Amino acid sequence: MNSEEKQDYLKRYKEKKAEGELFWPDAISKDAVVSLAIFVVLICLAVFAGVPSEPPANPSDTAYIPRPEWYFMWAFQLLKYFPGQFEGIAIVGLGLVIVVGLFGLPFFDRGPKRHPRNRPIATVAMILIVAAMAFLSIQGVVTTPVSEAEGKIIGGTKAEQVTAGGELFAEHCADCHGADGEGGEIKDKPGEVTAPLNSDDFLIGHFDDTIFQLISYGQPGEGMQAFGLAYGGALNDQEIRAIITFMRSWAEPEEETPAGNEAVADLAKIENPSFAKDVKPIFDAKCLNCHGKRVKGGYKVDTYDNVMTSGDNAPVIVAGDAANSTLAKMLRGIKTPAGGQMPPGKPLKPAQIDLIERWINQGAQNN
Ligand code: HEC
Ligand code: HEC
Repeated sequence: MNSEEKQDYLKRYKEKKAEGELFWPDAISKDAVVSLAIFVVLICLAVFAGVPSEPPANPSDTAYIPRPEWYFMWAFQLLKYFPGQFEGIAIVGLGLVIVVGLFGLPFFDRGPKRHPRNRPIATVAMILIVAAMAFLSIQGVVTTPVSEAEGKIIGGTKAEQVTAGGELFAEHCADCHGADGEGGEIKDKPGEVTAPLNSDDFLIGHFDDTIFQLISYGQPGEGMQAFGLAYGGALNDQEIRAIITFMRSWAEPEEETPAGNEAVADLAKIENPSFAKDVKPIFDAKCLNCHGKRVKGGYKVDTYDNVMTSGDNAPVIVAGDAANSTLAKMLRGIKTPAGGQMPPGKPLKPAQIDLIERWINQGAQNN
């Protein structure tokens, strides 16, 4: 820069400065407002979305494959290129080079121009660094195997996930939470009960990540062991995810097949329903898993006699009077001393309920 250029520059600098904003208090106050807004957003995220905590470190787990957060992936990958004893040197050395380089940049790159095109050294250096970080990050993700605790992805489609999750639920959870998460008495622990998991209260009230944590960590104070591999349980992350997909399916309407709908519509045409031919098949399909071998509410639907006489609040059927029969009220979702909606959470089709009521009104015979 010759002295003329310098004068010119200083003059323009003065002009700009005169028309500019003050750092204190103008710029600072703007910064303060934006920082406050970001802070509020962070607090809201922490309170309402939460952060699932990571499992504790387990020094005896030799199968553990470390995987840093994505923003450290590049450094993680970089270290893989250095043999063991040089890793320390690489970390300290490279860090030093980068920091010294940043400090030195104003001394290498002394031009007065500010546009990136006029500052080739700085611009190229920055592009190279960003590109290298991106390349290393991708390389790191691709070459780091998935750890055992994460597990293999189960099934491609949601239906496959639901099926796999359902099997796992039946194997690991149903004894305490019921076949369909309806809750009730814990098997082998008379008097101890669980609350329903298939209720809107539970399903709408919990994020997937929260449910994941509840299953993975268990409820140690309340008699449910940990299920996550990380906590010494039997299920990997993907298996727990499949169970959650299955649990979510409780809140979805059942899939309707054309054949199924036709069969249900045909029920309306049956004027004098038979217990054996028309009513029993509905009980078998919709009630038996909770009112057969498992006896919820003391009620069994396996035989005609049990249908008529069993139950903690027996009789639940008043022959000839569906309107006063506990069972019919429960099918309609009316609260009774014996309980509410049957089956819990998933009402029968109106045509099925009408048919059972017709059968009761005609005398609830064993026909
Ligand atoms: C030995 C019995 C037992 C087994 C097996 C069991 N649980 Fe639990 N679980 C409980 C108890 C007891 C609670 C305490 C809350 C309650 O009373 O409902 C609980 C709580 C929960 C909760 C939290 C409920 C809430 O309202 O906060 C979830 C979710 C859950 N269990 C899911 C599962 C899943 C999924 C499995 C299978 C992988 C499973 N449980 C296996 C007994 C069990
Ligand atoms: C997912 C399990 C489940 C299914 C399926 C189910 N129930 Fe129930 N049922 C229960 C539970 C649990 C109770 C105990 C009351 C309660 O907790 O609400 C009960 C109670 C009852 C009672 C009251 C018994 C008494 O005397 O106290 C009747 C009647 C009944 N169910 C009828 C049916 C019928 C009819 C169906 C099929 C259309 C059906 N249930 C399907 C779980 C189920």
